[in-house]
Amino acid sequence: MHLPQVPRHVAIIMDGNGRWAAGRGHPRFFGHVRGSGRVKGIVREADRLGVKALTLFAFSTENWSRPDPELRILWSLLKKFLQREQEELLRQNVRLRVIGEVDRLSVDVRQVLEPAVERLSGNTGLQLTFAISYGSRKELARASRLFAEDCVRGIRRPGEMSEALLGEYLWTADLGDLSDVDLVIRTSGEQRMSNFLLWQAAYAEYVFTELCWPDFTPDRFREALEAYSGRERRFGGLVTRLSVPGETSGKGLKA
Ligand code: FPP
Repeated sequence: MHLPQVPRHVAIIMDGNGRWAAGRGHPRFFGHVRGSGRVKGIVREADRLGVKALTLFAFSTENWSRPDPELRILWSLLKKFLQREQEELLRQNVRLRVIGEVDRLSVDVRQVLEPAVERLSGNTGLQLTFAISYGSRKELARASRLFAEDCVRGIRRPGEMSEALLGEYLWTADLGDLSDVDLVIRTSGEQRMSNFLLWQAAYAEYVFTELCWPDFTPDRFREALEAYSGRERRFGGLVTRLSVPGETSGKGLKA
């Protein structure tokens, strides 16, 4: 199916691994195993449909409070994904980035993550970002601190601060004009942002699905993009034509 409007940047909150497993009588880790198996197909489908940037919420700053055995499983799945899929990502011309508190990750995770990011850094196709130990409030607090430090050093003046300049201090700065998120998808029926890309998703559209992440197939991803495709984005402005049931002429309505 042809999509009249493809989001340039899609961000996904991959939620519900634990519930998916529990609902089938399996331990939570099994949901993470199945969930990590879903990533590859979604990356490929995003690329195929013409999405330019895909950001996946793999681990939040709050997830550190999970029990150690679960954390070990999550890190081991991330490492396995990177080891197993690196060649394919290279072939697909996918560039990989990581946003979040990378310095909190253990040495063994960084030893796999950093070379993978470096190896894929010359790729110019889909811009894939893993948000790991990521939290928007931390990102904004860090940006404020870095800007204040630059002011103290005389590199910046406080009066220079603007929306565009703040963007340069965020973890997503490297994405440039792709850093604004067009579509956020959240699986598992929860309808909240959970401290994910709050600044970047200021004008994003949202698609919430009841499906848990392990059940979120490439076909479901395409359906989410179809839903996006039918949305009218107004960015807080006025539209001159908006079809309202019962009215024959469009009126300027506020978003
Ligand atoms: C939410 O499910 C999911 C996570 C906390 C981690 C997401 C991780 C993966 C999909 C696997 C590894 C990632 C990559 C990129 C290979 P939950 O445990 O919060 O589920 P629940 O809300 O049902 O408990």
